[in-house]
Amino acid sequence: MTEQQEANPFTLHDTRIPRFIYGTAWKEQATSELTMQALNNGFTAIDTANQRKHYFEQGVGEALQNFYRSSGRRREDLFLQTKFTYAEGQDNRLPYNPAADTKTQVEQSLLSSLEHLHTEYLDAYLLHGPSRSQGLSDRDFAVWETMEGFHRSGQIKLLGVSNVNHQQLELLSHRAAIKPMLVQNRCFARTGWDANIRQLCHRHGILYQGFSLLTANTQLLAKPEFQAIMARSGLTGPQVIFQAALKMGMIILTGTSDPAHMQQDLNCLHTPLRDDEVNLIEQLMT
Ligand SMILES: NC(=O)c1ccc[n+]([C@@H]2O[C@H](COP(=O)([O-])OP(=O)(O)OC[C@H]3O[C@@H](n4cnc5c(N)ncnc54)[C@H](OP(=O)(O)O)[C@@H]3O)[C@@H](O)[C@H]2O)c1
Repeated sequence: MTEQQEANPFTLHDTRIPRFIYGTAWKEQATSELTMQALNNGFTAIDTANQRKHYFEQGVGEALQNFYRSSGRRREDLFLQTKFTYAEGQDNRLPYNPAADTKTQVEQSLLSSLEHLHTEYLDAYLLHGPSRSQGLSDRDFAVWETMEGFHRSGQIKLLGVSNVNHQQLELLSHRAAIKPMLVQNRCFARTGWDANIRQLCHRHGILYQGFSLLTANTQLLAKPEFQAIMARSGLTGPQVIFQAALKMGMIILTGTSDPAHMQQDLNCLHTPLRDDEVNLIEQLMT
């Protein structure tokens, strides 16, 4: 494991969660090669989904096999996370029988993920998104209860939910027998970087993973106050955003395809911004 990824990992339920997670969406046939590059560059956490429309989970598994062989590292050295996605979010390449009941769909999806990733357990498993935009449905609770079963059997270490709003997270945290441990959300500067959800996560001991930190916040880079921070720190815009997000307590997803950016992103762990600068960035677009 590289020195970068050793810096300030979180630990939850005896599971070590690195501060940077390499995201494998939208890489298609390059998934295996790019995942291998990310691992060789020092990433020790991988995010994927059993959703062939946007991810190629089998390609991730191929990279893992190659990495173990070439590096001597083992499964336990890595943090592997994948997701259950409803049929509405899939194309026709479903990892389960769409006619089966919800519980069976989750079981089939998860078992196929374990097979794709050549592992007996997942460090984290996420519901990719609730079935509706407001509130939670019986189907969402059926998915969650099935995930809880896999957590109890030790096949999933951490349970999480993605693309969730404040009300949904409150509801799930209140009703679930095993509470969510991770949230993965798109993170817009204009919402104070998902401030409400992050506060709720903080209250419930949930760790927050942010995605689209760069692509959703391009207007921020043009702000004079932001440019002044870049000039003072000597960091690039993406580095300032990632560094600020780290200081806000987030886990960061990056899906960069550029080996130089892989290194640059991981190096954010060593280039601290001042607290007043982070506070300014946190408020700048709200
Ligand atoms: N749960 C969900 O519904 C959901 C949705 C979207 C994404 N995700 C997860 O989050 C991961 C990340 O997705 P994302 O939406 O954040 O976008 P992304 O795929 O990480 O794209 C980020 C963009 O930022 C650029 N970039 C990264 N580091 C950079 C650097 N140091 N300097 C300059 N440019 C840099 C990349 O370009 P280069 O390639 O040129 O570096 C890329 O164009 C996905 O792969 C997926 O695992 C989850």
